[in-house]
Amino acid sequence: MDFSGQTVIVIGGTSGINRGIAEAFAASGAKLAVASRSQEKVDDTVAALKAAGAADAIGVAFDVRDPDAVAEGLKQFHDAFGDFDVLVSGAAGNFPALAAEMSINAFKTVIDIDLMGTIHVMKGAYPFLKRPGASIINISAPQSYLPYEGQAHVCAAKAGVDQITRTLSMEWGVEGIRVNSVVPGFIEGTEGAKRLAPTPDAGEALRRDVPLGRWGQPQDVANACLFLSSDMASYISGTVLAVDGALYQRGSGKFGQMMGDMLRSMKKG
Ligand code: HXC
Ligand code: NAP
Repeated sequence: MDFSGQTVIVIGGTSGINRGIAEAFAASGAKLAVASRSQEKVDDTVAALKAAGAADAIGVAFDVRDPDAVAEGLKQFHDAFGDFDVLVSGAAGNFPALAAEMSINAFKTVIDIDLMGTIHVMKGAYPFLKRPGASIINISAPQSYLPYEGQAHVCAAKAGVDQITRTLSMEWGVEGIRVNSVVPGFIEGTEGAKRLAPTPDAGEALRRDVPLGRWGQPQDVANACLFLSSDMASYISGTVLAVDGALYQRGSGKFGQMMGDMLRSMKKG
């Protein structure tokens, strides 16, 4: 895929899956802009993106919970690189916790980062999107449509993210802007996977729930994002694309129950 001459913005692009996405666009020759809370992670990522082949790379630190900071950061990207061809919104937070055990603020924290953060990013970027032609990709999660015990907050937030995708694919589609979600399955070595499967046994249970029999890799998710942002996908909008080895077809499986049992036994202990 050749993205030379294109501007690609990846919010939450400084580690894990999202950084893999940013690196894939960099290797395809795009100009990259990334953001997350940590200036140190931003600086490290910008250097890596240049080394990976980006035509140029910049970054700023902001928290997606602050709409003014998001809008200001995105304006800085626009001042530097012009209209956005691709916007990937992937900042998220997660921790396993039973609803009865979690404070209201804990639930709200995940809603604020994952769901409110998504609309802050999309609305902040809206004035700067290329029309027609921009591709927006929201990074969702299987929790959007699979209920997992210990994940009520993330399930609620990511279901909301995918409904924003579907709704804005219509509202913004009339301006030639495509909006899709990508749902990574369990992606090896990432913070999200470590938090949900902190032990080798849990990791193995998780892998067994995947019909293709293996963990996903960041490159699997990046490939889907490259495709969705390319001309080959120019008629694809409003879709929620699972990149999950058919995990969805098995439902939340034994893993969802195992996590609930683990959290309940920790409560007793
Ligand atoms: C219960 C918890 C908790 C836990 C935090 N809280 N961790 N409650 N169990 N393990 C509560 C706190 O007590 C507090 O409530 C509230 O949540 C906010 O916590 P803070 O630490 O003040 O929040 P903050 O510093 O803003 O950090 C946000 C965070 C943190 C989400 C809690 O973990 C974070 O920054 N995460 C970003 C990285 C990340 O999560 N990556 C994985 C993404 S994976 P009180 O009431 O005490 O004030 C993903 C889906 C993966 O999204 C899907 C895999 C299949
Ligand atoms: P990760 O490495 O923790 O990535 C999260 C990114 O978001 C980091 O760059 C982080 O950087 C940033 N971020 C977090 N909170 C933020 C905030 N409030 N404001 C701005 N930036 C923030 O996690 P990951 O596991 O790769 O997950 C990446 C995405 O994939 C998430 O959307 C997640 O829901 C989704 N996902 C992951 C998996 C998986 O298997 N890992 C499966 C399904 C879906 P800072 O810490 O510097 O802010």
